[in-house]
Amino acid sequence: MLSTFRTALLFLLPVLVGPHLPAFANENPPTVSSAVEAWLNSPHADYSSEAFRHWDEDGEIPTSCAVCHSSSGFMDYIGADGSEAGQVDNPAAPLSVVECATCHSATAEALDSVVFPSGAMISNLGSSATCTVCHQGRQSTSSVNAAVTGLDNDTPSADLNFINVHYRVAAAMLFGTEVKGAYEYDGKEYSGKFTHIPGLDTCSSCHNPHSLDVALENCVGCHKVDALGDIRTSSVDYDGDGDLAEGISAEIQSLHQALESAMYAYASQITGAPIIYAAGAYPYFFNDTNSNGTGDPGETIYPNRYVSWTPRLLKAAYNYQYIAVDPGAYAHNPHYAIQILLDSIDDLAEKVTVDMPETSRP
Ligand code: HEC
Ligand code: HEC
Ligand code: HEC
Ligand code: HEC
Ligand code: HEC
Repeated sequence: MLSTFRTALLFLLPVLVGPHLPAFANENPPTVSSAVEAWLNSPHADYSSEAFRHWDEDGEIPTSCAVCHSSSGFMDYIGADGSEAGQVDNPAAPLSVVECATCHSATAEALDSVVFPSGAMISNLGSSATCTVCHQGRQSTSSVNAAVTGLDNDTPSADLNFINVHYRVAAAMLFGTEVKGAYEYDGKEYSGKFTHIPGLDTCSSCHNPHSLDVALENCVGCHKVDALGDIRTSSVDYDGDGDLAEGISAEIQSLHQALESAMYAYASQITGAPIIYAAGAYPYFFNDTNSNGTGDPGETIYPNRYVSWTPRLLKAAYNYQYIAVDPGAYAHNPHYAIQILLDSIDDLAEKVTVDMPETSRP
């Protein structure tokens, strides 16, 4: 009953509030010069970024990386260069960015379906198909399951390494369980695509495709907030802190912290090797050799990387990083993000006591 009402409301909303809505990002088509100006100041045009300079010394970008890290690799992948679509045939020359031609070739503009790392194919993507190719991540539930099959859930295994979903995985987050980008636990149900509202449910409607910004003025017609991070419609106190006014992003942040604490407790008590996370240091998880709960400079170095992985800890760490690498998770799929955080905490709580207030799962 409630959900029928909500669905009806969602369809009616644009009609009801339509006259008060400002123009969405692509309702007024940009001119070439405004597109150039917006793009020049965007991360896509940032020639100095590690995402484009990582291969400088190698002289070429390997085929496994070129699709998302170079314009020619992307054109090769979608077949805009006349080659077979769906694979990169040749390494790419370093030092290209996400260029006008990356998104505006005839092939790119016709692209409508994208295959995710789980093998799931999503169609009818329209002008967000290009974004979806590059922001889909590189791993999924099945890659984690493949790594842990046959291993005891709570015994450290030398066969396990941290599995990193990769970075800025907005598209995987947006489609939720349709593409299984997070680690989804057996026997649980997960949200699919975050449908939001018609007209603001795709990459290039919320984001200006050239500046990449999300304009707050496109949101305030319905969400009365001063900052994107303050948006909230949920009436459930997911983190159990009693604050129902904070943005949904704050609920996600505190559950993310609770997961980190639960991982710390589990590693200390079950594997005997305390674990710490360092966002800026590869491969992100390290031994807390002095057990002080923080990553000290001498600890967050590759030779001290965490190696005492159990399947249970690896699944939790995968999901911890999954949320960390999508700063827009709260807008891409807030309930999916909350589900995977709560399930990761619950799974660890089967072995150790975790400090979690009473809450309910979306
Ligand atoms: C499916 C697309 C995709 C593939 C394939 C891919 N990447 Fe990325 N990578 C991204 C995106 C998107 C980012 C954006 C990071 C950001 O905005 O900070 C990124 C960021 C990076 C960064 C910068 C990380 C940082 O902390 O700033 C490095 C390094 C990197 N990738 C290495 C690789 C390597 C090496 C490969 C091949 C083995 C690869 N990537 C394959 C999409 C991809
Ligand atoms: C990351 C992908 C991407 C890049 C890079 C990009 N664009 Fe766009 N551009 C889009 C999308 C998406 C639209 C909206 C198309 C729609 O809504 O149908 C668009 C629209 C436009 C339009 C409005 C007319 C039209 O075709 O809809 C112009 C003009 C334009 N882009 C020029 C440029 C120029 C010039 C550059 C380089 C400086 C550039 N774009 C780079 C994705 C991109
Ligand atoms: C060819 C691959 C590719 C395509 C297509 C692409 N992106 Fe990106 N995107 C990247 C990479 C690589 C970065 C990191 C750039 C950097 O570090 O400066 C990035 C960065 C971003 C960022 C900024 C992230 C940050 O760390 O600040 C946003 C937002 C974004 N992209 C959104 C989009 C949207 C929306 C589209 C479609 C209109 C799109 N991208 C299409 C590869 C791509
Ligand atoms: C409902 C609106 C909405 C939709 C749909 C949406 N985004 Fe976002 N996205 C946001 C918001 C809000 C943020 C956080 C931006 C901020 O804090 O400035 C964000 C953040 C991001 C970031 C990280 C930027 C950063 O600063 O690191 C990337 C990358 C991104 N989005 C890409 C995409 C892609 C690709 C799609 C389509 C698959 C998409 N988004 C769909 C609203 C949206
Ligand atoms: C026409 C009205 C409307 C506009 C405009 C709008 N939203 Fe929403 N938004 C909604 C509705 C309705 C929901 C509840 C959707 C649901 O629960 O399925 C929602 C939910 C959300 C949520 C999840 C909040 C929570 O507590 O779960 C976020 C985040 C969000 N919107 C971000 C945005 C952003 C970012 C913009 C601007 C780019 C925007 N919205 C513009 C109507 C709107």
